Amino acid sequence: MNIRILNSREDLNATAAAVISGLLLTKPQAMLGLATGSTPIGIYRHLADIYRKGQVSFARAYAVNLDEYVGLSPDHPQSYRSFMNEHLFQHIDIPIAHTRVPDGNAMDLAAECAAHEQAILDHGPVDLQLLGIGHNGHIGFNEPGHSLTGSTHVVDLEERTRTANARFFGNIDAVPQQAITMGVGTILKAKQIILVAFGAYKADIIKQALTGPITTECPASLLQCHPNVLILLDQEAGGWFN
Ligand code: F6R
Repeated sequence: MNIRILNSREDLNATAAAVISGLLLTKPQAMLGLATGSTPIGIYRHLADIYRKGQVSFARAYAVNLDEYVGLSPDHPQSYRSFMNEHLFQHIDIPIAHTRVPDGNAMDLAAECAAHEQAILDHGPVDLQLLGIGHNGHIGFNEPGHSLTGSTHVVDLEERTRTANARFFGNIDAVPQQAITMGVGTILKAKQIILVAFGAYKADIIKQALTGPITTECPASLLQCHPNVLILLDQEAGGWFN
């Protein structure tokens, strides 16, 4: 595991964006595994800048997202499809047909989960998976528990997760109870993983995930088993490391 502590959040965003754009220069048809939430917003801004400067193209790339809320239509303002369009896809040249966010409004959620896995098989494997981390150690929406599911599945969101995400919805009652998420098995099949975290409030869970026992009670700890993980932290999230 390669752990890097950057001087500022801006450095962290620029570093992650440079790794992603560097991959596309060597493999223009790469499949990117993408995340939502507050963590990747600055990275996506940097990627859009790099694209605008003509330094990278996403025209042949594929993008597959980690997760989506169940019950939100793709055009709902808080859907992860809307998030991706707003923060990245509409600013770069990736064909929308090359992007896949699970459809949380699908009539048959099991079939939608299977279709997500199939899309990864068809165009993958994922060359680079970008991850944030939840306060409870979740990656994607794989919540802590006695066991974890390997492939894409429907998950009940923890109250802690719904509370953390209520900031995007205005109030907790509006936060969906369930989500579709890639499983940890799917995530761990990515050739390279970049996990990004910033802020003092992520320090404890990051330390636990990287140095504690490998356990389903902290899903991010399973990343310790992956051979190619880059952890990017700012001083606040990574101050314990040294
Ligand atoms: C989002 C996702 C989640 C977030 C995590 C951290 O697609 O998969 O695991 O990465 O909840 O969220 P933020 O970045 O808002 O702290």
